[in-house]
Amino acid sequence: MTKKWWMESVGYQIYPKSFYDSNDDGIGDLNGIYQKLDYLALLGVDLIWICPFYDSPMDDNGYDVRNFFDVSKEFGTMEDVKKLIIRAKELGIKIVLDFVLNHTSDEHPWFIESKSSKDNPYRDYYIWHDGKEIDGKKVEPTNWGSFFGGSAWNYDETTDSYYMKIFSNKMPDLNWKNEKVQQEMINIAKKWLDYGIDGFRIDAVSHLDRDEFIDAKVYNNEKYPLDWNKFSNLPKVHDYLKLLNKEVFSKYECLSIGEVGGAASIDQGIKYASFDSNELSMVFNFDHNWCNNLHEVTNPKKLKTNVIALKKVFNAWQESFKDIGWLPLNWLNHDQPRLMSQYGSYKYPLESGKMLATALHMMRGTPFIYQGEEIGMTNFPFEDVSQFNDISSKSAYGYHLEKEPDDPVKALKKAALRSRDNPRTPMQWSKETHAGFSTSNPWMFVNPNYKKINVEKNLSNENSLWHHYQKLIDLRKNSIYSDTIIYGDYEQLDRDDENHYTYLRKGKNQTLLIINSFSSKKTSYDLSKYNIVEVIISNYKKQNIKDNILTLKPFESIVFKVEEKS
Ligand code: GLC
Ligand code: CA
Repeated sequence: MTKKWWMESVGYQIYPKSFYDSNDDGIGDLNGIYQKLDYLALLGVDLIWICPFYDSPMDDNGYDVRNFFDVSKEFGTMEDVKKLIIRAKELGIKIVLDFVLNHTSDEHPWFIESKSSKDNPYRDYYIWHDGKEIDGKKVEPTNWGSFFGGSAWNYDETTDSYYMKIFSNKMPDLNWKNEKVQQEMINIAKKWLDYGIDGFRIDAVSHLDRDEFIDAKVYNNEKYPLDWNKFSNLPKVHDYLKLLNKEVFSKYECLSIGEVGGAASIDQGIKYASFDSNELSMVFNFDHNWCNNLHEVTNPKKLKTNVIALKKVFNAWQESFKDIGWLPLNWLNHDQPRLMSQYGSYKYPLESGKMLATALHMMRGTPFIYQGEEIGMTNFPFEDVSQFNDISSKSAYGYHLEKEPDDPVKALKKAALRSRDNPRTPMQWSKETHAGFSTSNPWMFVNPNYKKINVEKNLSNENSLWHHYQKLIDLRKNSIYSDTIIYGDYEQLDRDDENHYTYLRKGKNQTLLIINSFSSKKTSYDLSKYNIVEVIISNYKKQNIKDNILTLKPFESIVFKVEEKS
């Protein structure tokens, strides 16, 4: 295996709009990130992934790009980006940008040209199709549904035809079959790398190819069934990625992490990101994001982690990538509910928060912390649909309401539990007004728990979750265990144990045993196979071991250095 710089990094994801507002207009910005770089360095991270800050009409908070090489006014200027890159370099922090290449904004000059006439030179930059006639009425070319609800096509009257858009109407999909599009995207990527950034998180990358335009199967009478297979992981995506790799990634030694979403199996993940696939450095998958009963409940307190399912997913990805590839390690991101509200405990927030952190950070791969995770931020207590900002949360509410029109409260609760607004509430810096995020009214509600959960409070208490994250990062990067934590083999244990997620990491001459209890009750674990050498990190001060039996307190988590008895 050839070692790469990112294998030894610890990443942090920033959602710029909600991170820190430097000029008091209520919107987080690039200078805000600049001002908090020291904070990130103190935590120990040395790689940041910044969600889109490009010029955009903000239909999807920046994922709808109007100009790939300019900054949205509310976020700052290109000069601010330069300043940020320079300061980050001084602090040893690498910067990865979000590369949105499946679509642009409908306000992008290419699209404005493209829709203007059928023979415009930019027409083929996007995917256009005539409508279908049914009973004398014109309808979409296929019945395909989109991720944000409704059809995957949108009608445009200028040329009386439909363009494809698997996200929102304002996000027309680029036509990757067109070599000019490929070249444009290659140029954009190169331009940013030449500007000094260190790589990309590549948005929605599994969707760059489309199946034949044949209707999807209809289930539950849905008018526009969302069939991922129609536009996910299709063969040509790999050709496009090999091209990007050859022309861009390989030339810069840059990091490329593809978002392959919920659609990619492990085999597909390997195709994208094994060491010899010559496509991506790694892929983000979401398999571990929904190992609870999120889809069935409306009450957040009724969420229950399915430990067996969760570790099955972790084990499978870890073991499949063992010698052939590298993985990012992340709990959740800006599209998922908050970690604490998903797998954490209401009764034991500190203990469960630390346990979740340890469980992830001890695996093999490159950890990514999502902003606010290090202080245990939680979901927002939505009480009204008007509080939603995110386009997909609004459509999810509509969807649930359509199913059960008499129960708007239930629709709200369902949409709220999964809402992408949860991770996007402003970062809670202090107990000051607006959580110290801004002195003006923020663009998005601050979680009312900010007086209890904030950075300032975490920093002042050595026993805080934040300090636990700092310790985990320090162990990974600067300790006698670093080599084992980074490169050691991962070996799953106790597959059928419903309470504990346990595994070994085996280095050259060290073995670490990682034990994480997901139970709110006392549990026990048999240690008779091991000689315990020492405790490396834990979330309770004392461990209770008697006659080789470890008695675990609620959500207890321990990393032992052990010797295996033969
Ligand atoms: C990705 C992003 C998400 C965005 C979508 C469309 O899934 O993570 O936030 O809405 O792509 O760009
Ligand atoms: Ca601002």
